[in-house]
Amino acid sequence: MKARKAISPDSRAIAELTVQLGYSANVSEIGERLAKILPRDDCAVYVAEDDDGMIIGWIQTHASYVLESGFRAEIVGLVVAENARRQGVGRILVRCAEEWAGECDADVIVVRSNTKRRESHLFYPSLGFQPTKTQQVYRKKIVCGMNR
Ligand SMILES: CC(C)(COP(=O)(O)OP(=O)(O)OC[C@H]1O[C@@H](n2cnc3c(N)ncnc32)[C@H](O)[C@@H]1OP(=O)(O)O)[C@@H](O)C(=O)NCCC(=O)NCCS
Repeated sequence: MKARKAISPDSRAIAELTVQLGYSANVSEIGERLAKILPRDDCAVYVAEDDDGMIIGWIQTHASYVLESGFRAEIVGLVVAENARRQGVGRILVRCAEEWAGECDADVIVVRSNTKRRESHLFYPSLGFQPTKTQQVYRKKIVCGMNR
């Protein structure tokens, strides 16, 4: 098994795994998003491949300046194929994200994970991540042209 930076042809496999993460995502949507994300310096997407070249996991990380906490990287998505879990794939993908964060000179790497993802709350602490707070996430649709 190995991890590498994602490329456009990975869209189908990433879309399939994204469904396992609980999001509805089709190949063209993921392809369009990847095309925007891959050229950016402030984001990185890595995939893990098994020995047959099948993609069995992906991770996305994003770096940003935050006034109150400085320059930080955030893991904004991570999933390992259900049939490939507990084999160290997630650990390798997080290591890629941490190395990328180090190359970016980020001070810290953070991740928010839904409380319902039971395994992730065993996974991150086992990799040295400390729980810092519990949040409610709010969401509002942006209507183009509003308030202009
Ligand atoms: C969380 C997730 C990414 C972990 O990936 P993984 O490849 O199975 O994790 P690893 O095999 O690298 O596990 C590393 C360590 O984490 C801990 N761990 C991971 N999954 C665990 C589980 N289900 N129960 C207990 N400990 C677990 C263990 O300490 C493990 O080391 P060990 O196997 O040597 O005991 C995977 O379960 C997943 O995709 N879950 C659904 C999506 C999700 O929750 N994503 C994170 C959202 S931010």
